[in-house]
Amino acid sequence: MEDSDAVPVHVAIIMDGNGRWAKQRGLPRTAGHKEGVKTVKRITKCAANAGVRYLTLYAFSTENWKRSREEVDFLFHLFVEAINGYIGELKENGVRLNFIGDFGPLPYFLKKAMEISKRETKNGKKMMLNIALNYGGRREIIQAVKEICKEKNSSKDINEEMLKQFLYTKDMPDPDMIVRTSGEKRLSNFLLYQSSYSELFFTDTLWPDFSEEEFLAILKEFSSRKRRFGKA
Ligand code: FPP
Repeated sequence: MEDSDAVPVHVAIIMDGNGRWAKQRGLPRTAGHKEGVKTVKRITKCAANAGVRYLTLYAFSTENWKRSREEVDFLFHLFVEAINGYIGELKENGVRLNFIGDFGPLPYFLKKAMEISKRETKNGKKMMLNIALNYGGRREIIQAVKEICKEKNSSKDINEEMLKQFLYTKDMPDPDMIVRTSGEKRLSNFLLYQSSYSELFFTDTLWPDFSEEEFLAILKEFSSRKRRFGKA
């Protein structure tokens, strides 16, 4: 991209359509998730090379527990396999791995892989890859409010910046843009507080088919949008 100022600092993506991708091919939903991991790797590399500093991917929501036990178990094992097999490449590309969400209910084997991969990649300086796992925007705000009640004596201390410090994303800038694949046009409880001024992009492409070319085209469109943040 010619104008490096126009590259979004923080890109967030709702990766949707793995199940439909598999169904179209007469495959089990799990095949779509496996293919989706390949897209994660392609887009992460592409984003880091384009100059994006934070990439947040919605991998598992607080609502995803409503899926079948088999699918949830499959996803957790897939995440571990993907994370473990990914550390070397992330280090090579200067990408630091981080996770946001309510980790309490996640299985121990997954939490262990998350902790190790975070530690292993902590020196990555090019980009932070932030994976949202058991993430829910409402849950995030509720836990922030609970912590504020415990720590602060007066409501006078509460303001926008202060509340931000109690969110999972406390040290990150708000997402400049949010992309959702697969044709659905909603945020589904993703980054509710942080997305106030995010530019939204929707594409019909299913996540396993989402390419670097399409991602770069969306970054280009972002650079041409006028962001006014409420100003005239
Ligand atoms: C949405 O498709 C996708 C998910 C719930 C899981 C996404 C996770 C990955 C692609 C792997 C993440 C990788 C790492 C490294 C942690 P869907 O099942 O909702 O699709 P559908 O709407 O077509 O049914």
